Amino acid sequence: MNLQIAGKTALVTGGSKGIGYAIAAGLVAEGARVVVSARDQGMLEAAVQRLGEDGGDVLAIAADVSSAKGVRGLVDAAVERVGHVDVLIANAGGPPSGLPSNLDDGAWARATELTLMSAVRLARAVLPGMRERGWGRIVNVTSLSVKQPINDLTLSNALRAAVTAFARTLANEVASEGVTVNAVAPGYTATERLEELFADDYARARLLASIPAKRFAAPEEVAAAAVFLCSQQAAYVTGQTLVVDGGMVASTY
Ligand SMILES: NC(=O)c1ccc[n+]([C@@H]2O[C@H](COP(=O)([O-])OP(=O)(O)OC[C@H]3O[C@@H](n4cnc5c(N)ncnc54)[C@H](OP(=O)(O)O)[C@@H]3O)[C@@H](O)[C@H]2O)c1
Repeated sequence: MNLQIAGKTALVTGGSKGIGYAIAAGLVAEGARVVVSARDQGMLEAAVQRLGEDGGDVLAIAADVSSAKGVRGLVDAAVERVGHVDVLIANAGGPPSGLPSNLDDGAWARATELTLMSAVRLARAVLPGMRERGWGRIVNVTSLSVKQPINDLTLSNALRAAVTAFARTLANEVASEGVTVNAVAPGYTATERLEELFADDYARARLLASIPAKRFAAPEEVAAAAVFLCSQQAAYVTGQTLVVDGGMVASTY
């Protein structure tokens, strides 16, 4: 299917590896012009080189999205370099694990900046241009934890639920202006982060046994869902969370 986004400009944060990288690659394959961002300049440049190998139109801007200054600088630099942003993929690393009873205010404040406020600030920064042009796609990368909390991931559970509620509300505000706001919620996905978290064979086997598909997602499988949400064909899909989890969330709705 031709997703009809060739020539659109996309900003992918957290795009140097893992799920963000796979989404950037998916957008490049559709002919979009892609700005990829992350903090580590070396990793970012290596990613851009790989993404551009088959003639992809890709450029890198290093930024930390966990601060207002980082987001503003990134979006200003992206607009300066590519003119405007049609597609925003709001993604970054996940907050640290921890049980509800022992996370202090500092941990909550840092995670709020990284997970909630990055999504809020990125959306606010790209929206005026999208509204002006009457076309835009915002996709937040969240987690299956928005449907089914994961015991020791308190910060992720709470703040990704907040991102989802923010996005749902924003979706209604801009629905009549050609701008959609959705989320892709990955289940356990085979990225470096997952390799680190489940390096132990026993823990890995137990986790795999709990997934109906009996395997982890490939980052490209999560990316395919995200890229669809950026398409012309998805113009009437807004305020939704598309869970890509191999059947792990057990609820009916
Ligand atoms: N993998 C899974 O199983 C899974 C499941 C559910 C949800 N998720 C969530 O999906 C997101 C992506 O996961 P992933 O596995 O692809 O993670 P990953 O492999 O760790 O990649 C994270 C990306 O975000 C960038 N990043 C991290 N902190 C950043 C910051 N403050 N500012 C800008 N960029 C930042 C990283 O580059 P730099 O470090 O160089 O900045 C990297 O490009 C995460 O939020 C994760 O929690 C993942």
